[in-house]
Amino acid sequence: MHISVLTLFPDLITEAVHTSILGRAAEAGLISVDAVNIRDFAFNKHHKVDDYPYGGGAGMVMQAEPVYLAYEAVTKDLQRKPRVIYTTPQGKVFDQKMAAEFAAEEELVILCGHYEGVDERVLTEIVTDHVSIGDYVLTGGELPALIMIDAVSRLIPGVLHNDLSAETESFENNLLEYPQYSRPEVWHDMRVPDVLLSGHHENVEKWRFEQSVERTLSRRPDLFERFLSQK
Ligand code: ADE
Repeated sequence: MHISVLTLFPDLITEAVHTSILGRAAEAGLISVDAVNIRDFAFNKHHKVDDYPYGGGAGMVMQAEPVYLAYEAVTKDLQRKPRVIYTTPQGKVFDQKMAAEFAAEEELVILCGHYEGVDERVLTEIVTDHVSIGDYVLTGGELPALIMIDAVSRLIPGVLHNDLSAETESFENNLLEYPQYSRPEVWHDMRVPDVLLSGHHENVEKWRFEQSVERTLSRRPDLFERFLSQK
């Protein structure tokens, strides 16, 4: 998968995608992320990309043309128009289902919002998905972009060493994941549940399912409702 991120802070994106699991996935050629600096497409010598909002009001608005030129530069050689995700608190809230949907694409463009917003006309022209990462307001779209890239990348076959772990984890089937334990068997007087030491695979599976249900019911009753209604 190839992802182009249109941003005013390319270093923030590049730094993160070269780290840890994402870095390994990039080295293995499973994902490639290009951070494209919108400022490089400014049409004035000061590389200014924002201006005052028509109608007045606080803050600055990112102008349409540099955003559009950056978009054109990353899409000009593509056979078809890719999904273009705009990070905004006004978007649909990102979830695991959306991550899976994006992971099925070969090409994605993410436009990181900034200042008081982006000129609406370029959004109308290029954006296919307005996406928020939650009901709070951040200073810019770079962290939301990275969150999406992380959640999407780990669903791409080969990115996680154990592909099964992406299937059995939290939110799959609208249940949270069961608790995990590793050595030692006793730590701070707390024992690993006997069933996990029993070697009885069926009982382990049953226990884990029960734990998932219990955990979802107490921590995320909203998710549990969805689990019940999907059956
Ligand atoms: N930009 C600012 N806040 C945001 C949010 N919650 N989600 C996506 N983009 C944003």
